[in-house]
Amino acid sequence: MEKIYKVHNVDARLINSVIKEKLVDVTITSPPYFDLKDYGSEQQIGFGQEYDEYLNDLKVVFKNVYDVTKDSGTLWVIIDAYRRDGEVVPLPFDFSNKIKEVGWKLQEIIIWKKDKTVPWAHKGQMRSIFEYILVFSKSTEFNFFIDRVRDFTSLKKWWVKYPERYNPKGKTPDALWDFGIPVQGSWGNGYIDHFCPLPEELIEQILKITTNENDVVLDCFSGSGAVLSKAVNMNRKYIGFELNPDYIEMFHNYLNNTGEVKRNDFLFEEQNTLDQDKFEKLIFELRALKYARLLYNELKKIGLLSENLKISVEITNQKPVKKNALLQVKYNILFSEKYDEIKLNKEIIKLTLKQPLSKFGIEPIFYFTTLYDIFESKVKQKFVYCYSNKVTHKFSSRINKNEINESPKPIIIFSNIKVDLNEKDYE
Ligand SMILES: C[S@@+](CC[C@H](N)C(=O)[O-])C[C@H]1O[C@@H](n2cnc3c(N)ncnc32)[C@H](O)[C@@H]1O
Repeated sequence: MEKIYKVHNVDARLINSVIKEKLVDVTITSPPYFDLKDYGSEQQIGFGQEYDEYLNDLKVVFKNVYDVTKDSGTLWVIIDAYRRDGEVVPLPFDFSNKIKEVGWKLQEIIIWKKDKTVPWAHKGQMRSIFEYILVFSKSTEFNFFIDRVRDFTSLKKWWVKYPERYNPKGKTPDALWDFGIPVQGSWGNGYIDHFCPLPEELIEQILKITTNENDVVLDCFSGSGAVLSKAVNMNRKYIGFELNPDYIEMFHNYLNNTGEVKRNDFLFEEQNTLDQDKFEKLIFELRALKYARLLYNELKKIGLLSENLKISVEITNQKPVKKNALLQVKYNILFSEKYDEIKLNKEIIKLTLKQPLSKFGIEPIFYFTTLYDIFESKVKQKFVYCYSNKVTHKFSSRINKNEINESPKPIIIFSNIKVDLNEKDYE
């Protein structure tokens, strides 16, 4: 069998002559412009064509892409409108409608803000500083690993006090993507004399959202190979189609010269995932502690607060059983004899089903006791961090567990969780 994972110097309308099965996980491509640019080969799509002919050719290409894409796969097309004969031609929308005819479903319209462009505008024109990224799928079930690209570094400082409002993996990215276009030379000496290379970060973002290592990435108009090089760096397989052999050669030279270095860059990037895991753990810890504090407040509101109330908090390693719960937490509660345990239990369960507690994604497991010794025996660690009934993002002291009983109010929460955050550090 001829090698398939390479750039084929074959017309993209003939993809099905090269790929015979559904093996593509994602296609990322920017089609040749309509009639604006000569990419220097005879069968090229776009240059010298009528608009209808151009759209029909693109339909043929993307029908082929559809046929070789896995059912879970997606197609990402970077495309722009342009001006002709004194008006705007809405190519992204015409294109989208055209390829719908072969089965592609439009899922997202992302605006890619490119920043760099000509500093002047013609009469009646705004400065054009963006392109469209259209995302299509074959079905409604498709790979979209959005958690991997959540932003957890630029959250407002409020997450320290309101951990229940923040997704533990970070903020969902919005549909306005800000990636400056690469300046000449940033891809290495003379690699990109080619037009409109896509920024590496943009391609990386798409690959993270759509693929795992060893998945298959296709660019049916691969040009200088920006998409495919990134796929190689990120340990994905690649298939390209490109009519101009000079571009294919450029891509090979680039790979030979930079592969090793870029791969190391990617490994460095993986550090980010570790940081994201740490952030998630911290949000969970903050939630578990704050939940105990709010429980205290709610009990106070309904007149069920005992003088000697103490709560110990421990996150279990068990997966929660409840749907929508993110973590399971043990709350061990010491309360006064004057309350009936069954009633207290019932009231607490009611509270957990209502706001604010219901918003924490916590599956609580409660233990109640009126006996201090039993309470203490349920605390497994020798030392515990203490929190007051006002602040649970900063521990106030660390004590031996047999000192819990002597802790003066307002210290009511005891845990093996250590958080020591100062909101001012997160502005
Ligand atoms: C907009 S460029 C792609 C640029 C690419 N994304 C990059 O980063 O360099 C479009 C490419 O499609 C190629 N092309 C045009 N018609 C083609 C066809 N029928 N089959 C395969 N490639 C074609 C052109 O040679 C050109 O390199």
